[in-house]
Amino acid sequence: MKITLSAIKADIGSVGGHIQPTKSLVDRVKQFLAENSPGLLIDTQVSYTGDDIAILFTHDKGVSNEQVHKLAWDAFVAGTELAKAEGLYGAGQDLLKDAFSGTIKGMGPAVAEMEFDERPGEPFLFFAADKTDPGAYNLPLYLAFTDPMYCPGLILSPKMTAGFRFTIMDVSCTDADRVIQLNAPEDLYDIAALLRDPERFVVESIHSRSDNEIAVSVSTTRLHNIAGKYVGKDDPVMLVRVQSSFPATGEVLGPFCITPLVAGFMRGSHTGPLMPVKRNSPISYFDGPPIVSCTAYCIRNGKFTEPSDAFDHPFWDEIRRQATRKALNIRRQGFFGAAMLPYSELEYGGIVDKMKSLDERFVVRK
Ligand code: 13P
Ligand code: 13P
Ligand code: MG
Ligand code: MG
Repeated sequence: MKITLSAIKADIGSVGGHIQPTKSLVDRVKQFLAENSPGLLIDTQVSYTGDDIAILFTHDKGVSNEQVHKLAWDAFVAGTELAKAEGLYGAGQDLLKDAFSGTIKGMGPAVAEMEFDERPGEPFLFFAADKTDPGAYNLPLYLAFTDPMYCPGLILSPKMTAGFRFTIMDVSCTDADRVIQLNAPEDLYDIAALLRDPERFVVESIHSRSDNEIAVSVSTTRLHNIAGKYVGKDDPVMLVRVQSSFPATGEVLGPFCITPLVAGFMRGSHTGPLMPVKRNSPISYFDGPPIVSCTAYCIRNGKFTEPSDAFDHPFWDEIRRQATRKALNIRRQGFFGAAMLPYSELEYGGIVDKMKSLDERFVVRK
């Protein structure tokens, strides 16, 4: 049976700053979907990560389906009305366009989708991150899908020895989708050369080369490309099918132990460690740190099993402490150097005016 998995996520307002949505807001989105999805969707899950609400759908309509995207958009619009009525901060923050026009892509919400023939057992992982951008997944994906030091399946499983095909997007190109396909392991150094720069090059999808099946789909939205100014961080979602010809669940989770330093901490303008957190976690210190949650499911005929919270395990408590120490370390240097993002990432904010006025005061000494 061909199933489409769609993850669509937006910040439509949050309590106490950019912290988390209210329970009533999450319930409003759930209620809207319950009332409007029958006949269109097979199953739905609603969760939040920091101040972003994510809707996970199964259906048989294929990727980029207009009706499915419109339903998600309308659910976020309905939620925004409540967020305004409740006086939440940033109500409708990620809904950057006034009217729906065929696809939710390019309208603000983050979208990751994949269509596949359901396997007899179909395990997959749903990742949702807050206070960071889509390039945050570059390193964990590189390690899980190319490096036997992290993914022993690459040498132990005959179904994985052919390696994986990476589709990487140049997110600086705003006119159209500019992508390149590279194969691991032959093109490993080229893949690394691109993925080292997570603000420009982002993994969009990964396919198995043994059976051509899709393994990974990542949202590639960069909000400042749409809005032309800083309106919040991109806060990406990702779907990863696991086991069989794909890495095992633990092989995909493993690289998140690194808690890599990523963009998006405080005002979307600072560098901080990516902390793996439990589902439905809020934001705290310095509007962060950047967080990522991971929920594991199986599906049968498109119906979700109950969710399993992949980072809700004692093992990850130590990793969270490690991330806390990294956050405190980099925060000691405040605005200086690598702690704040380079000007190219800040150029949509107030710093542009400041730099302009300072520029006029410079003199060239004779
Ligand atoms: P305000 O300037 O609206 O307070 O927002 C700051 C911030 O948190 C960045 O979005
Ligand atoms: P969000 O993109 O999650 O709304 O965060 C905005 C921000 O700048 C917080 O400091
Ligand atoms: Mg917000
Ligand atoms: Mg957010």
